[in-house]
Amino acid sequence: MYRRIAKNIGLTCHYRGDAAEAWFSSFRYYHVTCPNRRHSPIVFAVQNRLHLSTAQIRFINTGPSSQYVKMLSSLEPYPPGSPMSFEEDSGASWTPLFQKQCSFPPEIFRQVMLNLIRNPNINSNHLFRADISLESPFADDSLTDSEIPPRITHVKGYDIKTVIGSVSIHYSFFDSEPRSAKLERTAQHLLTVLHKHGQGTAAGYVKRVNHDVIIPQAVLQNTYARLKAKYAKILISRWVESTDPTKHVFEDLGIAAFLIELWAEMYKETYFPGFVDIGCGNGLLVHILLEEGYSGWGFDARRRKSWATYSSKTQESLKELVLIPSILQTTAAETPTPNPPNVLPGTHNGLFPEGTFIISNHADELTPWTPILANLSKSPFMMIPCCSHALSGAKFRAPPSKGLNASSSAYASLVSWVSKIARECGWVVEKEMLRIPSTRNTALIGRRRAIGFEELDVKELVGANGGADGWRDNAMKLVKGATRGH
Ligand SMILES: C[S@@+](CC[C@H](N)C(=O)[O-])C[C@H]1O[C@@H](n2cnc3c(N)ncnc32)[C@H](O)[C@@H]1O
Repeated sequence: MYRRIAKNIGLTCHYRGDAAEAWFSSFRYYHVTCPNRRHSPIVFAVQNRLHLSTAQIRFINTGPSSQYVKMLSSLEPYPPGSPMSFEEDSGASWTPLFQKQCSFPPEIFRQVMLNLIRNPNINSNHLFRADISLESPFADDSLTDSEIPPRITHVKGYDIKTVIGSVSIHYSFFDSEPRSAKLERTAQHLLTVLHKHGQGTAAGYVKRVNHDVIIPQAVLQNTYARLKAKYAKILISRWVESTDPTKHVFEDLGIAAFLIELWAEMYKETYFPGFVDIGCGNGLLVHILLEEGYSGWGFDARRRKSWATYSSKTQESLKELVLIPSILQTTAAETPTPNPPNVLPGTHNGLFPEGTFIISNHADELTPWTPILANLSKSPFMMIPCCSHALSGAKFRAPPSKGLNASSSAYASLVSWVSKIARECGWVVEKEMLRIPSTRNTALIGRRRAIGFEELDVKELVGANGGADGWRDNAMKLVKGATRGH
């Protein structure tokens, strides 16, 4: 539910360069109210479909630099009753609320503001992007600064002398909702975020987490929104595990959305070869993908209560099997064995029909094995590492490899170690930080080869990465193992 909180909100940047400049961005921000939350938080956000009816205006002041008057050290409120910053010809007046010293130039201000508009999630965790629809064509990226047309052409009484070297926020209030502490808080928040991002950009901060490397954000989020609308409510209401349904449902819907779009790209000119989810746990991801029409199956050393709640098609596609990789088996390759109730699960040798897309989502012991199994079956894969296990199945801390140091997190070390194994297997490893509610959101994808499958001795590779002694015993412990988190 969206509610506009003011007629308009303007954020301005004033800076003294060769020619003093001021930039102004005006946006419509909205309260987002969440009726299903106990505290019904009111957050501040850009409307999903944003109309930049008033956008950017550039003021050039070629006056002497002595006009540089005041540098502010912290967020400073304009006292109520401060003179208006400016007034539109229509009569609408703008009230200044806060200002703060800044040392970044207008170009960064503009860059940060556009980023904040396009990614309202920075200001609100209830929105994931802004689809910007302009009232008139405005291809900002393709225009040079001097070509950007002013959108407010008639602003009176703008006093640049008192504000050079700062960013500030101004509201054009609704008569029905005048200035209040609540509106001030949101203004304070917005200006703080703008300032932080501007200073960070000026200091050369480069975002380390890169989303949307493989699949464009809008494509992915549209699919996610569709899946969420179709499945979330019912899956949450039918949750039978002791784990948090919202976390798991939204996480698996996010992963499913990513896979659907990845597969759309990978298999646009060929048939879908089927998937297998190794260590599928509660089977939710398998269920969503089957419901979406993809053929595939999943298995886990331990069946979960959830399995019985799915459609008969999903139930038939979930198997209780322990994976013992073919290269560790001394006897002839074992084939999947069906498992009647109340007996130990059968085993699977990890050999799948060539080309089967292997999914390993937080598959713990199976994570480092994923690219190796992919080699053995000549199949692409996506793994999302979580907890750190050696190729023997024992818990261990992966060694920090190149680019990381001894103080790197266990997770970073694991991701880097399994990426190294995948590269050694001959995969071109692609990395995507998934938009899922989990800090363990690194997806490593292998769908392209750097070398031929035959050019590699897989057993040697396993030995060189610590070996797999004890795998069978460790894997069998999972069968009767203590209940896990997921
Ligand atoms: C942390 S859980 C994740 C489950 C699920 N993928 C998810 O994200 O909710 C890891 C799962 O991998 C399974 N697993 C680990 N090694 C296995 C093996 N050798 N054979 C079959 N399942 C295995 C475990 O039983 C466990 O259910």
